Amino acid sequence: MNHIPVMLDHVVDHLAPEAGSVILDGTFGGGGYSRRILQSADCTVLGVDQDPDAIARSEPLKAEFGDRFQLLPGRFGDLSKLASEAGYAALDGVVLDLGVSSFQLDQADRGFSFMRDGPLDMRMSKSGPSAADVVNEAREGDLADIIFQLGEERDSRRIARRIVDARKTETFESTLQLAELIEKAVGGRRGKKTHPATKTFQALRMFVNDELGQLQSALQAAEVAVKEGGRFVVVTFHSLEDRMVKSFFAERSGKQEGGSRFMPEVKSTGPQPTFENVRRVTAPDTAEIEANVRARSSRLRSAIRTSEPAWDKEFPLSVKLPDLDEVVS
Ligand SMILES: C[S@@+](CC[C@H](N)C(=O)[O-])C[C@H]1O[C@@H](n2cnc3c(N)ncnc32)[C@H](O)[C@@H]1O
Repeated sequence: MNHIPVMLDHVVDHLAPEAGSVILDGTFGGGGYSRRILQSADCTVLGVDQDPDAIARSEPLKAEFGDRFQLLPGRFGDLSKLASEAGYAALDGVVLDLGVSSFQLDQADRGFSFMRDGPLDMRMSKSGPSAADVVNEAREGDLADIIFQLGEERDSRRIARRIVDARKTETFESTLQLAELIEKAVGGRRGKKTHPATKTFQALRMFVNDELGQLQSALQAAEVAVKEGGRFVVVTFHSLEDRMVKSFFAERSGKQEGGSRFMPEVKSTGPQPTFENVRRVTAPDTAEIEANVRARSSRLRSAIRTSEPAWDKEFPLSVKLPDLDEVVS
């Protein structure tokens, strides 16, 4: 199945590309955003993706748009470096559409889905430790933390214990093998609308691909790379990510230090706001959700870069997780 781009009209509206603009699409995927941006103005688009299959899918855009489109293989956490190396130190816009594409989800051999049997892989870049490595090697406490923090799964401890018990006699290799164990661990579907493995699969995917760490790096990299008046647009599908984007824009637009009803707002003497005009779209319209069920949980947040220098202060991660390299030896 093709990937249907989510909130496409809103994305272009918030990015507002013009002739001569340089826009970085940090999640090229199926190229839905890149194509529409290229069609909407005589601008240049730099597409970034870490998935070799997505990179291969960029060929038709290169043929169609020539010099106006380039694919930069890599991770969006390095977007500032990738753009500079391609000769674009300052950008007019950056857009991120987080998570996995339908291409990734629907292809059983990528191992993202508990609906299809495939290798327990989940690596977007097809390199580094896989979900099977984590499930087979992580300590019980680490597994429980990953599943709880990234999946917000109440039964995380029970699931981790069952995995570790099962490891005494079996090695986890396939998606269905893990999905069935989770179903048994939490007592079946119990009339729930979602499969009992949903949250654990989400957590493993986010952990294997360092999705929150990548978002943290990308927020800061966009602050460096986007020039004054440029736009930064982020589409999320998960509350943890949406909260991170929301609090980044709140902090960097000076909204977190504001006064209250009782205390007047005091102008900060620290770093000055690097973003303004923070906007959000909290839900796609009904027609979009009807046409594309994956759009249901999407949220869009955007802001415009001010002229102030990027902050020399790390934006923190809201969750504490073990290091992937320490979890798998
Ligand atoms: C939801 S899809 C994007 C779909 C795209 N907007 C479209 O319209 O076709 C997300 C894409 O981002 C890529 N991706 C996710 N995290 C990434 C990261 N940290 N660095 C680079 N690419 C990433 C995935 O491989 C996937 O292809």
